[in-house]
Amino acid sequence: MSTLLEIEDLRVDFQRGSLAELFSGRERSRLRAVNGVSLSVERGETLGLVGESGCGKSTLARAVLRLVEPSGGRVRFDGADVLAMNAAELFKLRRRMQMVFQDPYGSLNPRLTVGAALGEVFRVHELCPPDQVGERVGRLMRDVGLPPELVDRRPAALSGGQCQRVGIARALAVGPDLVIADEAVSALDVSIQAQILNLFASLQKRMSLTLVFISHDLGVVRYLCRKIAVMYLGRLVEIGPTEEVFADPKHPYTRALIAAMPRMDPEGSLSEQGLLGEPPSPTDVPGGCAFHPRCALAMPACRQDPAPAHRALGRRDVWCRLYDDAG
Ligand SMILES: Nc1ncnc2c1ncn2[C@@H]1O[C@H](COP(=O)(O)OP(=O)(O)OP(=O)(O)O)[C@@H](O)[C@H]1O
Ligand SMILES: [Mg+2]
Repeated sequence: MSTLLEIEDLRVDFQRGSLAELFSGRERSRLRAVNGVSLSVERGETLGLVGESGCGKSTLARAVLRLVEPSGGRVRFDGADVLAMNAAELFKLRRRMQMVFQDPYGSLNPRLTVGAALGEVFRVHELCPPDQVGERVGRLMRDVGLPPELVDRRPAALSGGQCQRVGIARALAVGPDLVIADEAVSALDVSIQAQILNLFASLQKRMSLTLVFISHDLGVVRYLCRKIAVMYLGRLVEIGPTEEVFADPKHPYTRALIAAMPRMDPEGSLSEQGLLGEPPSPTDVPGGCAFHPRCALAMPACRQDPAPAHRALGRRDVWCRLYDDAG
């Protein structure tokens, strides 16, 4: 396998603060939404990115596509330096790296029929001669399981699942190397979620897509992804093969997330084992290991800067002081 996407020490900052702060001339509070993330995605790999709301998953994805500007670090896509690209190069990059978003209705133009929305992609990117657009649209609709009679419908006349299939079709139309799906099934009913997940799984196999699947739902990621990366307050805390991470989570945060997964116990009731407390505000990230206030295993050193260094444990990377003496 060769590396398709390489992210190194990526940081994304947002300015935060009240208007009064803005006009006072004092420095506005800064929110570091992504704080030194390094990871790589191999060709054909499925990587799941998980973590609680606000931990920076979407920001990381958007920064990779330069939909938000990173404050530092490096991003390489198929060997090219993404942060050094000009507008024309970015246009080409975004053809090779496609995103599928959460809100199926909101991400489609309400005035365009399915046929027009898909045909537009072939035309804008000049993917085929104009007289072949209709045929290509038909093939694409088949690929994503949309019945041909929907070609003249507008989004308002489609179900959520059908809309999401159109969103996926639009992303696939350009023949991307990488698809980043950001909570792509979170807004759908559970039964529809399963259908769309199956679609992603079959497309991934058929087209040997490289897929980054962002979700706060560990069950979804476990089903779809061979590798899983866990984020907490802008940093990675653990990354490794999905089955290993679920069988033996190393980071206390990963353990808590897995323990908190809803499951049916023998009595048939839903049991949950929560995390200690709420995640702290991203504008006020605790020093040392950001997870220490919620960690049952925290040691005095965990409160002290710097944040824990990366440890390689077999095929796993963990950022936790519990493993400082390992390996
Ligand atoms: N454009 C922006 N301006 C200011 N702050 C932002 C902006 N976008 C995101 N943030 C903040 O950055 C942090 C990370 O947000 P992000 O949307 O990346 O999280 P997430 O992990 O995708 O969460 P969710 O699971 O809710 O989608 C949050 O604190 C969020 O409020
Ligand atoms: Mg998000």
